[in-house]
Amino acid sequence: MTKLAPSILSADFARLGEEIRDVEQGGADWIHVDVMDGHFVPNLTIGPLVVEAIRPHTSLPLDVHLMIEHPERYINDFVRAGADWITVHQEVCPHLHRTLAQIRESGAKAGVALNPGTSVSAIEPVLQEVDLILLMTVNPGFGGQVFIPSVTRKIRETTRLLRERGFTRVEIEVDGGIQPGTAREAAAAGATVFVAGSAVFGQADRKQALDAIRADAEA
Ligand code: DX5
Ligand code: ZN
Repeated sequence: MTKLAPSILSADFARLGEEIRDVEQGGADWIHVDVMDGHFVPNLTIGPLVVEAIRPHTSLPLDVHLMIEHPERYINDFVRAGADWITVHQEVCPHLHRTLAQIRESGAKAGVALNPGTSVSAIEPVLQEVDLILLMTVNPGFGGQVFIPSVTRKIRETTRLLRERGFTRVEIEVDGGIQPGTAREAAAAGATVFVAGSAVFGQADRKQALDAIRADAEA
């Protein structure tokens, strides 16, 4: 079950409601929201206010990717704003187990993200607390970057680890440089959720763009 999660980072922010309706009609499964703080990553984007503003414009799950330090301070705000999935980065969570438990207690599904340079072994002890593992396939911070091929091996390793431990319902999400070609590579390695920003919002026909990524992932 391939899921496509267009990232609104590459959408027209002046017309965000329309942009989201457009990808929903085009076959998107989730809406991916990139939150950046200018500390963990160099870029600054949006907060809970924007999540609250887009919530009435779609019935799709909102997949909120927190690229911020101290995510535990904001989890409840994002859930109140309408987030369905909240993903935090392992690299900024010294109390990762507690933070993931906090996400679930707040009523959202819990995700943990790994930068390209972070090994899967870093999250082995918390698999029980996790609904989704987000593997960054670029260094986080900006849309429109190129897929890092060496992450494919880590996708495979994650797939194997989840299977060995019996966590068959945990989603493996890939994020960064996903387009026809790289989607197929990630899917073959076991990815189940595909984030795509520029490959969707950079195209005039969003349905065609989503269809092309899905066809590639399912090829
Ligand atoms: C990057 C973000 C991604 C980004 C993907 O830090 O986490 O979600 O929007 O953009 P593309 O698909 O253009 O690489
Ligand atoms: Zn993201």
